Amino acid sequence: MSVAATYPSVRPGIREAAASQEAAAAVCELAVRDLHKSFDRLRVLKGVSFDVSTGASVALIGANGSGKSTLLRCCLRLLEPDAGSVRLLGQDIAGRPGPAALRRLRAQVGFVFQRHNLVPRLCALTNVLHGVQARHGGPRSWFHPLARKADREEALHCLEMVGLADQAAKRADTLSGGQSQRVAIARTLMQRPRMVFADEPVASLDPSAGEEVMELFVRLMREEGVTLLFSSHHLRHALDYSDRLIALRGGVKLLDAPTAGQSLDALKSVYA
Ligand SMILES: Nc1ncnc2c1ncn2[C@@H]1O[C@H](COP(=O)(O)OP(=O)(O)OP(=O)(O)O)[C@@H](O)[C@H]1O
Ligand SMILES: [Mg+2]
Repeated sequence: MSVAATYPSVRPGIREAAASQEAAAAVCELAVRDLHKSFDRLRVLKGVSFDVSTGASVALIGANGSGKSTLLRCCLRLLEPDAGSVRLLGQDIAGRPGPAALRRLRAQVGFVFQRHNLVPRLCALTNVLHGVQARHGGPRSWFHPLARKADREEALHCLEMVGLADQAAKRADTLSGGQSQRVAIARTLMQRPRMVFADEPVASLDPSAGEEVMELFVRLMREEGVTLLFSSHHLRHALDYSDRLIALRGGVKLLDAPTAGQSLDALKSVYA
């Protein structure tokens, strides 16, 4: 059962997003135009343009060094693009928004990394609770015993969603890689993001855990109506878990097409 049905008053933002998904289908959460980025004399992105529509799941593929991570980071302004425009959730982020506007924008966006970046000495529940800091901070969000009841319950529910409610009290550094990445996903859900960027989210997991976590991750994002842009070297994942595929080669967009109708063999040519 989806969170919307179980927790009607706790996660209204996400429920509304899911309800209006159809109406919003034509709207873009992310519009990138003619993006350029160099590191010294190394030209990494050479005029990349694409759109990610609301509620979509988009896979970004390409060989090592093709510019995937650089592109994801430029979209969030974690890296400053040299030229081009990025419109994220309706805000032009290449147009130098002030720190407050950038903070507000980033609060609505989750980022899942290859490494989970949990706080090792804190328990799973507190790590998930930290996701609420995107919405409201303060010491009550630092440790779960101090947390507001509603936040604590929601954090526990997010852990339930990733199948780890029984591990809530366990220290993060005692969890397996797959469990840790699930906790990181629960923390992202706690943030109630509109859009999530994921850079090779299961690359550090073994094939079986990677499959399980990827399936769970994409299913939860879809159920919650969250727009998703993820990079992956796992072509099967790219095919199975996206509606649209974007391929980069040498910082240039090689493919931008609906996933339906694409084949594994055709995608392999991206790496040729
Ligand atoms: N901060 C940086 N300073 C200098 N060069 C960088 C920096 N970040 C990335 N690069 C270079 O930019 C190029 C693209 O890197 P990027 O990490 O975006 O590729 P990628 O497609 O994500 O590769 P991978 O599949 O290995 O993760 C590489 O040649 C990399 O060495
Ligand atoms: Mg990368």
